[in-house]
Amino acid sequence: MGTDYASEYAASIEDPREFWARAAQLIDWVEFPENILDETAAPLYRWFPDGVLNTCYNAVDRHVESGHGQRLALIHDSAVTGLVTRFTYAQLQDEVARLAGLLVALGVSRGDRVVIYLPMVPEAVFAMLACARIGAVHSVVFGGFAAEELAARIDDAKPTVLMTASCGIEGQRIIEYKPLVDAALAVAMHQPKSTLVLQRPQITAPLGDADHDWAVRVRDAQAVPAVPVTATDPLYILYTSGTTGRPKGIVRDNGGHAVAMAWSMGNVFGIGAADVWWAASDVGWVVGHSYIVYAPLIAGATTVMFEGKPVGTPDAGAFWRVIADHGVKALFTAPTAIRAIKKEDPDAELLNGVRASELQALFLAGERLDPDTYQWATHTLDVPVIDNWWQTETGWPIVANLRGLDPMALKPGSPSVAVPGFNIDVVDADGHSLPADTEGSIVIRLPLPPGALVTLWEDDERYIDAYLSQTPHHYTTGDGGYRDSDGYLYVMGRTDDVINVAGHRISTGSIEAVVASHPVVAECAVIGVRDDIKGQLPRAFVVVKSGIEIDAERVAAEIKESVRKRIGAIASVKDVVIVPALPKTRSGKILRKTMRGIADGRDEPTPATIEDPSVLVAIAPLLQAPIE
Ligand code: COA
Ligand code: AMP
Repeated sequence: MGTDYASEYAASIEDPREFWARAAQLIDWVEFPENILDETAAPLYRWFPDGVLNTCYNAVDRHVESGHGQRLALIHDSAVTGLVTRFTYAQLQDEVARLAGLLVALGVSRGDRVVIYLPMVPEAVFAMLACARIGAVHSVVFGGFAAEELAARIDDAKPTVLMTASCGIEGQRIIEYKPLVDAALAVAMHQPKSTLVLQRPQITAPLGDADHDWAVRVRDAQAVPAVPVTATDPLYILYTSGTTGRPKGIVRDNGGHAVAMAWSMGNVFGIGAADVWWAASDVGWVVGHSYIVYAPLIAGATTVMFEGKPVGTPDAGAFWRVIADHGVKALFTAPTAIRAIKKEDPDAELLNGVRASELQALFLAGERLDPDTYQWATHTLDVPVIDNWWQTETGWPIVANLRGLDPMALKPGSPSVAVPGFNIDVVDADGHSLPADTEGSIVIRLPLPPGALVTLWEDDERYIDAYLSQTPHHYTTGDGGYRDSDGYLYVMGRTDDVINVAGHRISTGSIEAVVASHPVVAECAVIGVRDDIKGQLPRAFVVVKSGIEIDAERVAAEIKESVRKRIGAIASVKDVVIVPALPKTRSGKILRKTMRGIADGRDEPTPATIEDPSVLVAIAPLLQAPIE
């Protein structure tokens, strides 16, 4: 690989086949692909269609076979239990091979789906890799989602096996998982053949007929080798929020993903074999898939997995302790985590020995990096603080400051420049390119590079309709922004109904569906309003059915409770505001985009089609009021 960003970027755009064929050499193939890119079904593209490999082999076995079995692969640091557990690559291979054997014994074959609903325990990593080992398709569901959301994903993915635990630990609280799983299975149409339950010491879950005790079954399981799969076989489905309540099943393939993970770990993040790397996210999110599990392991690095929060487990010094204890070279987290630490420990008194430690960089993503957080982190840690912009769909950064090529000047407010492979543009509503410093919709020219989504699970049509139909030959990101004259991109926020709460991506459409189901609600709109720590919080504007007397406080409490119960605590509605009317067009459409613009502080023009401008005037201060 060259080290010059400009020439690498140009090469990736001018001759993507040659560029990615070169990058593919970072992976061990059973059969190296002869065909690098299949365009015959455009706008659906497939990378490395005749390549054969195994992702788990690349993440685990090849390091053992090349003599690095004793190198640390995974450090699990559980601040909530006070335990640290370490696994070498050889130990990881043993764990994963036996768990894969157990999945085979439970009837899982190549192409079958396995839903993983686990807290941040090492078994979550073993489970993902075990699926990859036998060519099964995992779908990890974030532990903070409630039973109904889990059920929706079970019905879409139709898993053969569900893997879960007796509980998760949130701060001081034990969250029982098994009752949530049982509730999900009680409403799901699809029933997996069996459920594997990891019994944690904090709680033992009662097991039913189709349930198996994880530890007992895995102890007797037969280790199995990695099976060859074609590069285009799906590796995983990861559901993410769309503009409607129905989640989108992002499909990642094996070959393109493995190449993108290997290339990005070195070139974007500057991490290589034996480096200690920590992505403080959750395996249920894309950052967890890509940068807790696959990329660092494929690169032969040591990945740190943390069970806890940046604050409160036990204090705002937890992150600094982990960095110092394990010699972390680079940390990747969301700005909201840094804001939470800054609030508790503004003078960084808990920093301990971090300044003198190995830490060389802090990477932040998942939401806009606000200048205050950027400045505080830079000043406090005295290392480069590097923003990077991407999304579940792309699987790895679209725009970044590439630490493995030639790092360039950082500009606060911008995640820097397009990553090789991503040909980005900023366009107007008609799809025309806009000049520098002009805000518009951010799009990426097709084909997307390896590692980006290949489609939505069993729904090519929805993929094309939701992402590929707005601007010809381009993928629409759903984010708005502009580029400056140096080519630095500024991401200003979503142009759709997706909000970002504490780094968690949530659809206001799904919250609205729950709010609207309350018996007194005539109509509603849920908008993300600014919050100093979490970035955004959902606020519901509710119009009550006419002629009904209500106790506003009780209605608000009921609405909040039902959102927590049906979607999960991460989507908690902060305020329920009862209003006499919502701003609408003359044809009766609620002006959500206008409301969002006002809430985001943008200079949003009032649409000419508005029915009654006074309704918007009345609601504007409520949209901008900070969260109490
Ligand atoms: N299982 C069960 N419940 C969960 C959960 C899980 N895995 N994750 C979160 N929750 C619950 C929390 O306990 C909390 O419940 P409560 O309202 O009863 O207190 C609620 O969901 C909201 O959680 P969260 O949004 O995480 O808020 P918090 O106050 O507990 O923590 C932050 C705030 C900023 C410290 C935390 O959200 C954070 O570290 N965010 C970074 C996210 C991230 O890494 N994103 C990935 C992109 S890099
Ligand atoms: P997710 O799919 O959960 O990773 O969320 C993706 C969305 O988060 C993007 O579409 C953006 O709206 C937002 N996002 C992620 N990273 C950044 C960033 N560095 N700057 C601004 N917004 C970001």
